Amino acid sequence: MQSPPLSLATRAIHAGYDASAHQGALNPPIFWSSTFAFDSAEQGAARFAQEEPGMIYTRITNPTVQLLEERLASLEGGEAALAFGSGMGAICTLMWTLLRPGDELLVDLTLYGCTHALVHHLLPDFGIVTRVADFTQPGELAAHLNARTKLVLFETPASPHMRVVDIAAVSEMVHAHSTALVAVDSTYCTPYLQQPLKLGADVVVHSLTKYINGHGDVIAGALVGTRALMSTLRFVGIKELTGACMSPMDAYLILRGLKTLPVRMDRHCANAQRVAEFLEARSEVARVKFPGLPSHPQYALARRQMSQPGAVIAFDIHGGLDAGRRFINALRLVTRAVSLGDAESLAQHPASMTHATYTPEERAQHMIGDSLIRLSIGLEGIEDILEDLRQALEASPAG
Ligand SMILES: Cc1ncc(COP(=O)(O)O)c(C=O)c1O
Repeated sequence: MQSPPLSLATRAIHAGYDASAHQGALNPPIFWSSTFAFDSAEQGAARFAQEEPGMIYTRITNPTVQLLEERLASLEGGEAALAFGSGMGAICTLMWTLLRPGDELLVDLTLYGCTHALVHHLLPDFGIVTRVADFTQPGELAAHLNARTKLVLFETPASPHMRVVDIAAVSEMVHAHSTALVAVDSTYCTPYLQQPLKLGADVVVHSLTKYINGHGDVIAGALVGTRALMSTLRFVGIKELTGACMSPMDAYLILRGLKTLPVRMDRHCANAQRVAEFLEARSEVARVKFPGLPSHPQYALARRQMSQPGAVIAFDIHGGLDAGRRFINALRLVTRAVSLGDAESLAQHPASMTHATYTPEERAQHMIGDSLIRLSIGLEGIEDILEDLRQALEASPAG
């Protein structure tokens, strides 16, 4: 009789690791080596020709990094994964490997600031055409797809408004009208909340810097997809185009962080739900954007697609930039910092920080106003977080 498949929580701790192959070590060894010896010239040649599996050089692969890749592939339900030195390293490698002059890339309205700068301000210099569509309207995507569309990229939820995109509906539309690959940046969810490959996407993008590592001490990224695509991205993309490889030490730290992913995400999400409800009831706050609130425009979709609403909240404060600055400066526990997914709650101002790469016109077009504040809700005691937000709101002019 076949045993039932292991749960995600169990695979986050065990997938891919055999302690008996490493003298019983509970934790995997860090293979701290840039290069690997071949038994013979023939073996070296066979490894370079990809006729024989095995290690060559850490920019291409490394045993500690390989274990992380196997674990990520298992958690996302993909055939293979590829680890990178940053989330942007993953995104750049995907673009440089798949796109050539004349090719088209279709993206959603709002993207993380550096991804936005890459696709709108830099790739066009290399003859790549970036088209934009509102992915919350999948029915309208057909008009933006053609034989030159090679890649479709979106985030869900997408910061700073926490827009939720229907992964299944978008994937179906794209596959019906083009041969393009659908890539979903699922950084805000992790595989614990959402698994895009199961909904029809071709590639999952992660900044592992966020919840997956979860401790604010590593910059890293990953892609998950088919074995064939990951192999091309490894042997052409990361090896020859970007070199954006991961350090074995970072792989070790992320493997350690991953063990507690489900426990951490449950607490992040529960704390965030309380904070979102608290903010929505405050007179100083004009609007709260959080997929776990019934007031969110895609609340029903979020409930269907994500097992929990995540832990990033955006809100507009009455009183504009001055009130926002005063609120952020009054925080005592919540840390003034960009990023998300750390144990510490973080607050930042998208217009001048994460989305400063948008031109003022682009920010106006995407409604990234001066009064918008983004919070990443951490793992502190909820009463302490709420008390800090309360006193900071009361220090803002509208308070
Ligand atoms: C959604 C999203 N994708 C990609 C990135 C880039 O990741 P990294 O900072 O690890 O390069 C970020 C960083 O904030 C992000 O928020």
